Amino acid sequence: MSFEKIKVQASPNIALIKYWGKLETDPKNDFDRNLATNPSLSMTLSRALTEVEIFPTTKPNSIEFLVQNKPPTENDKLKIEKHLNRVFDFFKTDLSPFVEKGFAIHSTNNFPMGTGMASSASAFAAMTLGFTALALGKDKAQIMLSSGVQDLSQLARRGSGSACRSLEGPWVFWEGPSARKLPLEWKLFDTLLIVSKEHKKIPSSLGHVAATTSPLFSKRQLALPLRSQKILEALESQSLATLGPLIEQEALELHAVARSGNPSADYLITDTLKFLEALGPPERRDFFFTLDAGPNIHFLSVRPIQNELKKIAINLGLKNFEIWEDYAGHGPKLF
Ligand code: DP6
Repeated sequence: MSFEKIKVQASPNIALIKYWGKLETDPKNDFDRNLATNPSLSMTLSRALTEVEIFPTTKPNSIEFLVQNKPPTENDKLKIEKHLNRVFDFFKTDLSPFVEKGFAIHSTNNFPMGTGMASSASAFAAMTLGFTALALGKDKAQIMLSSGVQDLSQLARRGSGSACRSLEGPWVFWEGPSARKLPLEWKLFDTLLIVSKEHKKIPSSLGHVAATTSPLFSKRQLALPLRSQKILEALESQSLATLGPLIEQEALELHAVARSGNPSADYLITDTLKFLEALGPPERRDFFFTLDAGPNIHFLSVRPIQNELKKIAINLGLKNFEIWEDYAGHGPKLF
């Protein structure tokens, strides 16, 4: 089947209330994959992008996969294929005429990977929209994107939990099977300080399982509703001074849970700790940190802070650090 080239762009998101722990579900039931133990909240970014292109080739009976201009690992290829089938199954459409003709799926990121920018979130959000455009046509996919993204969000979630929060922006709340946009337009900077690009020893997918074994886990679940309410109020009143300490507490709690789980995961390295200590108490700052399951540090602010971060890093004698400056955005685009 011939079709017009599909191009999709989606951005990662940074969570202020973290998804850390999955509900135990039947592994054979793909509909319940990656259901979270708690609601989470994030800001979708705009500069960092995963771009997915899907187009017909002249090689019948084949799908050509390229990730960052290279053939993906067998494992990544299987994940992409599984997601493609998941999307076609959901819309009860037939993939075989496309495969018979032959087509390509190329995915590229414009940002450093494996650094704490959630590349799986932007990749699965982009693939979900791209595969939907392939299954239903661009017009229907565009309508789904602009008026009710629940189906797209739940599909993306089954690829990678945090991906369900990358189908809209800037502020997105994930509860239950899918995420929804909050009626908030506040736009913040997210500046990422990259202190290490090494792959984490315990991937997030294992971290989620280990989290539920932590003695701190149930206490965290009990504390989250009140913290979430306070974070929402701070966002509504656009009070960064109120928001900051709450998100820092939330980030540190994720790491306390990760460290005390079985297996224990210590994602922070000496340079992370040195930097966090050099920041001093939140009352003296107008930029605030959050951390994902890795050593690199995200900072939220209302103004650009790259130069300040650079100065602190240089004063501390940090070597080989990098800074990625990003900004709140509105979700994916389909071309
Ligand atoms: C710490 O979405 O990467 O970034 O569902 O197994 O793909 P899977 O996990 P993933 O977990 C992200 C965890 C986090 C917090 C967050 O983004 O909410």
